[in-house]
Amino acid sequence: MNTQILAADSQAIQQAAAYLRASEVVAIPTETVYGLAGHAFDPAAVAKIFAAKERPQFDPLIVHLAAEPGLSLAALAAQRLICAEQIPQHLKAGLERLIQTCWPGPLTLVLPRHPRVPDLVSAGLPTVALRVPQHPVAQALISQTFPLAAPSANRFGRISPTHAQAVYSELQGRIPLILDGGPCEIGLESSVLGIEDEQLCLLRPGRLGISELTELAQSPVILAQSHPAEIKAPGMLKSHYAPRLPLFLAESRSDIQRLLAEHAGRPGLLTLSTLPAELMQELQHRQARLCCLSADGNLAEVAHHLFAGLRQLDQEDPPAFLIAELPAPAEGLAHAIRNRLQKAAAR
Ligand code: TXA
Ligand code: MG
Repeated sequence: MNTQILAADSQAIQQAAAYLRASEVVAIPTETVYGLAGHAFDPAAVAKIFAAKERPQFDPLIVHLAAEPGLSLAALAAQRLICAEQIPQHLKAGLERLIQTCWPGPLTLVLPRHPRVPDLVSAGLPTVALRVPQHPVAQALISQTFPLAAPSANRFGRISPTHAQAVYSELQGRIPLILDGGPCEIGLESSVLGIEDEQLCLLRPGRLGISELTELAQSPVILAQSHPAEIKAPGMLKSHYAPRLPLFLAESRSDIQRLLAEHAGRPGLLTLSTLPAELMQELQHRQARLCCLSADGNLAEVAHHLFAGLRQLDQEDPPAFLIAELPAPAEGLAHAIRNRLQKAAAR
């Protein structure tokens, strides 16, 4: 199959809509990462998403919805996406506030699934993951078509794509069309929030963290504990978002120096901000490849460039190994960035 990349103008969006109506899958930009989209209620289209990604069928998909006015739990139930009556009563007000304040945007809610949602979308779970993306191209496409099931547009276990060329290098020959909407603004996948033991529970950190979500919901949000025996979200698997090269993590600049001394060969470095002159000298001496994610350690900028930087170091003129600098542990973006880098480094 020939994979076309088209700038996402209205004609290209119409072409994507035609593919989707014909049970095909297309890659689309969102504000978080690129998604591989198909008709959420069409099992043939959903099966193609799993096949193109080589994704195991135990890993459920997010259903992307139109940003209609009046989004609410009742509206989701009326669209036959969720069973609102199965949501614990004391959590409803908090969820309504999150729907009102975070949608459209980088928040996915995992709620009791309506039987109309195909089993394959939810991997047979009694819940369904829902998100209203903010990106104008994603919105234009969904509003012309139907709810779209869309995982990140990478092969399973690999780094999520944040620009159209990255999708191409992951899925070329497997899908007919990539809509190019430029680089994704946020650069990390959405925060995934579910219900565990009758509590709101963050299953995957993203730009929205525990304290911000707690404040917006006006109701406590707790962090999911990963149970080794039970996968709540494969985004919770220990190894995920993995580059091909060995990746080591540095908590500090002295950690970078230690790792450089411990490992022979040409290093590749992903740093949070500009490095001091002596360290730069040593790196030049080792012919290191450098990718500075933000001049001044701005974490929104770091997140925006993170996956593209990791992908670039991993693929072009690859060094012998990679070192990535971790942000200091903190709530919100720092937590999400640490989470993605720790998964990328886990073997
Ligand atoms: O930002 C995003 O969320 C991107 C864009 C394309 O929207 N999508 C994305 O999809 O990251 P994916 O499939 O790569 O990650 C979805 C995560 C997975 O960790 C999956 O296991 C979890 O959401 N998930 C989906 N449905 C679930 C469910 N019913 N219960 C628990 N976790 C679920
Ligand atoms: Mg993914």
